[in-house]
Amino acid sequence: MDKHELQETLEELYEKYQGLNAGEVATYIPELGKANPEDFAVSLVTTTGRAFDVGNSNRSFTIQSISKPFTFGMANEFFGPAKVALHVGVEPSGEAFNAINLQSGTNRPHNPMINSGAITVTALLHERFGDRTFDLILDRFGAAAGRPLMVDEAVYQSERRTGHRNRAIAHLLINFGMVHEEAEQALDIYFRQCSILVTCRDLAMMGATLANMGRNPVTGECAFEIDSVKSMLAIMFTCGMYDYSGEWAYRVGVPAKSGVSGGVVAVVNRQLGVATFSPRLDPRGNSLRGIEVCSELASRFGLHAFDCLNAGSSYLDGVL
Ligand code: DON
Repeated sequence: MDKHELQETLEELYEKYQGLNAGEVATYIPELGKANPEDFAVSLVTTTGRAFDVGNSNRSFTIQSISKPFTFGMANEFFGPAKVALHVGVEPSGEAFNAINLQSGTNRPHNPMINSGAITVTALLHERFGDRTFDLILDRFGAAAGRPLMVDEAVYQSERRTGHRNRAIAHLLINFGMVHEEAEQALDIYFRQCSILVTCRDLAMMGATLANMGRNPVTGECAFEIDSVKSMLAIMFTCGMYDYSGEWAYRVGVPAKSGVSGGVVAVVNRQLGVATFSPRLDPRGNSLRGIEVCSELASRFGLHAFDCLNAGSSYLDGVL
């Protein structure tokens, strides 16, 4: 049987970008420094549940910041966007993901995709759910991935031991009344959520779940309500790639999120979850091969939100 065009394309891109050896593995969390810089994988999962992979798509790595849109979605669902908005904004910060800096005037973190915003979101969940919070997060992530997930204890301990910058951010947030006093417990959950192990295929499946209005396309389980999916995708579009988000929106044009262990997930709404894994990062903390692969996939298949192939609302087709 002939190879599917998507599979052929993935293999071609893999060959092309395997030689891109610029960038560095993250070492500020000591355990992440053990990553193999040569690891490389790309996975696609469609909203009909078809999957395509190339490279070591079953290699596990920690989800890191890719956890952030998902916990933001949970907070929106549990508390409603109005309450969440009192604690965290939705503006791109134009600054590094770990900046110690809050929005002037409101003292909120700029958005939930940077560390300060994500810690705030986790603290809100912890304030409501206490000791049950982490299991709740793990369950939701597992529902999106379509299989039970677990934590990399070594990475979790490593980040807990060395996460002084995140501790400083948490204390700044307490100072401005953005999070409750038990910030240390909330931080612990944040470190655990970042240490959840996923594969490239898992991430593509989580992306496909978002593309599929919150329902895992293979198991049929509803992981997120449709209103939260809209918020998650919007914030990924404007803030998901940190201070590269503008350039990403221009070049690639789909909602996405990166993590310092080398993962990127991108969502083509109603069609596809795309994930890449390659631990060599640019100075902003985004995977270099991930950026190039997503960019080329988007231009080859017309995935950009404003590509001429994207025809807008079908509702308007009927009334115009
Ligand atoms: O809090 C941290 O610094 C990490 N657990 C997550 C940061 C991250 O993934 C930034 N991504 N590029």
